[in-house]
Amino acid sequence: MVHAVYPGSFDPLHNGHLDVIKRAGRIFGKLTVAVLHNAEKPHTLFDVEERVALVRAATEGLAHVEVATFGGLLVDFCRRVEAPVIVKGLRAISDFETELQQAHLNRQMHPGVETCFVMTATRWSYVSSTRVKEIARLGADVTKLVPRASLAALDARFGDAKAARGRG
Ligand code: PNS
Repeated sequence: MVHAVYPGSFDPLHNGHLDVIKRAGRIFGKLTVAVLHNAEKPHTLFDVEERVALVRAATEGLAHVEVATFGGLLVDFCRRVEAPVIVKGLRAISDFETELQQAHLNRQMHPGVETCFVMTATRWSYVSSTRVKEIARLGADVTKLVPRASLAALDARFGDAKAARGRG
């Protein structure tokens, strides 16, 4: 059984992330979705407990998928949970350069770890948490872009903007 780690900020989880989780979950015997602690990225919209809860809600019932948090180096987390594989989603060429750099650096720090890329489905290739937050903050509907729990969390934060835009 090969254990893989799918790391990210997941602020919040969107449909592109979920697509990668489902597909990687079918390849690996165990997939740990590793949610980054705020210390590394202090300006997240949702705190780590909320982000974990959103991932859990969307992955409930998916076999072999677990959710954890991590801080510090990803390779140290991989060592700790004995996962020899890091899974990353690739949306477009624009993701490639930074992902290539991270994959090489992670392998330099931990030669036992291999990064595997899952090409995000075309229908989600344009979705990012940053844009989802921006659109929701400005009051437009993101129903088609995020799982139900993420939508509810965004509505709780930006529902007023949505109502105002609806009136306007
Ligand atoms: O969803 P994100 O914000 O694009 O995820 C980035 C993440 C969490 C995968 C990356 O920032 C990371 O691995 N951070 C942990 C710190 C680390 O290991 N840095 C060295 C990477 S070469």
